[in-house]
Amino acid sequence: MKFETAAGDNPIDRGKVVGRATPRIDGPLKVAGHATYAAEWHDQSNLAHGYIVASAIAKGRVNSLRLEEAKWAPGVITIITAQNAGTLGQAGPNAAKLLGGPEVQHYHQALALVVADSYEAARAAAALIKPDYTRADGSYTLAAVTGASKSDGILGQPGDTALGDFAGGFAGAPVQIDATYTTPDLAHAMMEPYATIASWDGDRLTLHTSHQVVDWARRDLAKTLGMPKDHIRIVTPYIGGGFGGKLWVRADAVLAALGAKAIGRPVKVVMPRPLMFNNSVHRPATIQRMRLGAGHDGALIAIGHEGWSGNLPGGDSEGAVQFSRGLYAAPNRMTRNRLSQLDLPEGNAMRAPGEAVGSIAVEVAMDEMAEKLGMDPVAFRIRNDTQVDPEHKEKKFSQRQLVECLQTGARKFGWDRRNARPASRREGDWLIGMGVAAAMRGSPVLRSGARVRLVAGGRVIVETDMTDIGTGSYTIIGQTAAEMLGVPLNWVTVRLGDSNFPVSSGSGGQFGANSATSGVYAACVKLREAVAARLGIDPAKIKFAGTKITGSGKNVTLASAAEAGELTGEDTIDFGGIRQQRHQATFGAHFVEVGVDIHTAEIRLRRMLAVCSAGRILNPTTARSQVIGAMTMGAGSVLCEELVVDPRFGYFVNHDLAQYEVPVHADIPHQEVIFLKDPDPESSPMKAHGIGELGICGVGGAVANAVYNATGARLRAFPMTVDKLLEHMPVPG
Ligand code: MOS
Repeated sequence: MKFETAAGDNPIDRGKVVGRATPRIDGPLKVAGHATYAAEWHDQSNLAHGYIVASAIAKGRVNSLRLEEAKWAPGVITIITAQNAGTLGQAGPNAAKLLGGPEVQHYHQALALVVADSYEAARAAAALIKPDYTRADGSYTLAAVTGASKSDGILGQPGDTALGDFAGGFAGAPVQIDATYTTPDLAHAMMEPYATIASWDGDRLTLHTSHQVVDWARRDLAKTLGMPKDHIRIVTPYIGGGFGGKLWVRADAVLAALGAKAIGRPVKVVMPRPLMFNNSVHRPATIQRMRLGAGHDGALIAIGHEGWSGNLPGGDSEGAVQFSRGLYAAPNRMTRNRLSQLDLPEGNAMRAPGEAVGSIAVEVAMDEMAEKLGMDPVAFRIRNDTQVDPEHKEKKFSQRQLVECLQTGARKFGWDRRNARPASRREGDWLIGMGVAAAMRGSPVLRSGARVRLVAGGRVIVETDMTDIGTGSYTIIGQTAAEMLGVPLNWVTVRLGDSNFPVSSGSGGQFGANSATSGVYAACVKLREAVAARLGIDPAKIKFAGTKITGSGKNVTLASAAEAGELTGEDTIDFGGIRQQRHQATFGAHFVEVGVDIHTAEIRLRRMLAVCSAGRILNPTTARSQVIGAMTMGAGSVLCEELVVDPRFGYFVNHDLAQYEVPVHADIPHQEVIFLKDPDPESSPMKAHGIGELGICGVGGAVANAVYNATGARLRAFPMTVDKLLEHMPVPG
């Protein structure tokens, strides 16, 4: 099916199943331990275990791995290294080799896989390996290398943009803000580690693994291993979080495949938690300079946003400046995205890449400007709203309800109780403050396919290689098929995450929900046509409701359509036309109240509210979970999360969950989420948008602005840890 023009009325509009708050259908399997994750396929016979040996230097050469002792250790079957693995390719998305040596590109780069009869034997033998290295000097500090940066494109968009006369507009603006913000390297820290069980049958490879996009896993493994893509099967039905870290093939998958090939037995590789942080990928740190110029009337005259980040050669930038390109109106604008070379582990996509940390700088700068103008921060944002893409005026937003989000949020949150004067509200030892920020996140789609089968009893089976990374894909896909075929949700079985099924969008970039359900919609349209043909009903008149089919004078059960055998509908949705002519994005507003201990500068979140506009909300329960999870992650990014770089040895020091601090339940207060649920007919037949990444955009800025309102301390280097905040605290009265 081609999606070219705005969607008209369709069966999804009935809203009998889609749009209803529905608990996830895979929930019981997960709590009962019956959802099989990558490392848990215990039916593999003769399974061997691999343990990754990782580099203890960040840059340089391995003179010798010194494997002799490990080779003869009990239980060891073989040791895979770059010397004996044969020629390996490198997939485009991987900046560093997944099996390094003798050249070392980053700390904890995999150098070998010890394969043994048990996990314990493999680990014990790996501990006997003490490679001989020659260390080389590297660049590890972003601030020190920004001078040698180059312009870098952002996901197909240019690295630099300009409109009007930024320099003139800014210089002539009566009110100016010129501030620089820094955000740290951040870790995905997903709960399920990278894990793969690989097995070969002749020249055919099967991987039980944990990956967000099945077809990309096949493509990248085929390139890396130098084998045909269609000889690789990927099985990844349950995934314990990805956040972008599982968009690309990692060392576990490649090494498990190599190990299994070498010994002719299945091999399991689970990456230990302390390897995750330096071996794999992270969100790169940024330096961002914001310049805003405004008139006394509160209208922005000039917006300038420059961003710097670093990566290994071949790696991408963290495109933070993207956030300011579409958000506020101003006639004179400039963005510059700069990339420097660093020898830290590879940076790559993490939840709302670019925009999550870009929003922190933009929304704090907006708060600083509102204060300088003496304007309310909500009113200031509304004053600078736009209904056309500010960089491409001919392009309208398909749907943009930022103003409604801000107004609704202000009302519900009690924003009128905020005192604009910082440090003016105190309750006992606590200084109380409120902050606001706007949220915006692009809403892309990718082509996506599915197969829907009508089987005995009128039951329905949906098959697609779409993944559920903890987001609720199973549920919204089941809801879509149930709505299209007029059956209750429990008549639908959803099968995901297997490359034997039709190719879907996969999960990433908040494109998964809208794309994959649209693919299921398209397949259901095909199935409805097949049913109409079999029953001799005019396809334009056929109706599916209450497990019955009516039309052309017939009234029969859905089950009867399957009596002569199973019927199948298979299709792929392709997006074009109207989607290209519109700026497709999601919007929101975050409101945060904090308390800051006047003596210790401890920050406690007290209340959080997000108001989100993301087209039709397919399932308010799973959508809310996406938003509150993203709000939590955004709060972590400004309050506690930071990969600490050792500038001498070039690695992330805090590489486990004891030292890389993510928020826990006790850190997060009650969170409220309000959805404006208006369907967007220009987005897809589902009239939906993505929601998984909107919630993390802006929230960090709202937290920072609340801390400022509470204390009068404007921190621009994130995270806002106590050590930084303490010296700026007001003197307790
Ligand atoms: Mo997302 S960073 O594309 O999983």
